[in-house]
Amino acid sequence: MAEIAAGRGLTYGCAVTAKLLEEEPQFAALVAQEAGLLVPEYEAKFAALQPEEGRFDTAPLDALLRWAEHFRKPVRGHALVWHDALPGWTRAALAEGRTRAMGVLERHFDHVLAHTRLRIRDWDVVNEPVANPPGSDVPEPAGNSGDLRDTPWLRALGPDYVAIALRAARQRDPTLRLTLNDYGVEADTPPAEEKRQRLLRLLRGLRARNVPLDAVGIQGHLQMREPFRAEVFRDFVRQIRALDLQVLITELDVREVRPPSGDFPARDSQVALRVHAFASAAFEGGARTLLTWGISDRWSWLYREQAVALDPGDVHRGLPYDWELNRKQMWRALA
Ligand code: G3I
Repeated sequence: MAEIAAGRGLTYGCAVTAKLLEEEPQFAALVAQEAGLLVPEYEAKFAALQPEEGRFDTAPLDALLRWAEHFRKPVRGHALVWHDALPGWTRAALAEGRTRAMGVLERHFDHVLAHTRLRIRDWDVVNEPVANPPGSDVPEPAGNSGDLRDTPWLRALGPDYVAIALRAARQRDPTLRLTLNDYGVEADTPPAEEKRQRLLRLLRGLRARNVPLDAVGIQGHLQMREPFRAEVFRDFVRQIRALDLQVLITELDVREVRPPSGDFPARDSQVALRVHAFASAAFEGGARTLLTWGISDRWSWLYREQAVALDPGDVHRGLPYDWELNRKQMWRALA
C-alpha cells in the first residue's frame, strides 16, 4: 500500500500500538508491509506520557519509535491538547485557573517536544476543538455556546487556547508541522454540514491572526448509516486547502450496523465502496496523506473498547478484515 501511494505522490499510514507491534506478529508484519507512516493510538497522549504531574512515562512511545525507526517509518504525534486521555491531576490543575493551566501546558510541551525532537515531525497539537452541533451522535451538553467544544482547556484558558497551544508548539520547535485534528465533518447530514462551517470559521480566524498552523487532520470515522456525497466532502477539503493548509485523513475506519440480512460479504463490499468514495474525494480535494485507525477489523479499537458496550445485534466493524479488498478499493480511483 505504501508503495502504491508513494507512486501517486501520496502517503498511506495507520495507527498502531506498541503492544500490538510487540505481541501480534501478523499485525506487525502487515504494518511493516503496508504502512508508510505510523501514528500511536495512545502512547503519545497526555495520560500516557504524564500520568502524574512531573512524572513522564515515555517507555511505550519510545518502544513504538524504535520499531518505527527499525522499519524506517516516520511517526506523527497524537495529541498534545485534547479533552480526553487527560489524567485526573491535569483536570484538577486546569480547574485552578489560567496561570496554573499555562504552567501545565508549557511543562508538557517542553518535555514532550524535546523528548521526541527529530523523531516526530508532525503533531496533532489540538484534537477535537470544535463543538458537536445539535443532532450529532455525541451532541454538546445544553448551554454550550459558540463553535468551540466546552473542554477543561477552554474553561482554563478561554477560546484562545487553540492559538496558545499552536504558538507554544511553534516556539519550541519551528520545524514541526502543526496540525489541528477533528471529526464529524465527513457525512452529508445537517450536523456534519454545521460542523464543517464551525471548523472553517475556526480556521479562518486562526489564519486571519497569523496563528501558526500547517495542516488540518480530518479523522474520517465513517458511519455507514450516514449518507455520504463525494462532491460535498471534496469541496470541503478544497475550502481548507484554499486557506493554504494541508489536509490529512488521520483516522479512517468504518462503523456500521450489522446488515439486516446478516450478509457480511455484501456488507463488506458496501463498506469498501464507501472507503473508496471517501478516499477518492479526499484526494481530489487535495489531501495527500491518509491513515487508517488501525489496519484491519481484527485489531480495531472498535472491538477492544466498544465490544462490551455493543448490543449483541449491532456489530460495529472497522475497515473490512479483507485487507486485499480494502486496499484495491481504497486506491482504485487513483489507478
Ligand atoms: O493502556 C492503558 C493502561 O496502561 C492504563 O492503566 C489504562 C487506564 O485507563 O488505560 C489503558 O489505555 C487504554 C488505551 O486506549 C490503550 O488501549 C485506555 O483505557 C482507553 O481509554 C484508550 O482508548 C483509546 C481512546 O482513543 C482514548 O484515548 C482508543 O484505544 C483509541 O482508539 C481512541 O482513539 C481516538 C483518537 O485518539 C481520537 N479520535 C477518536 C478515536 C476513537 O475514539
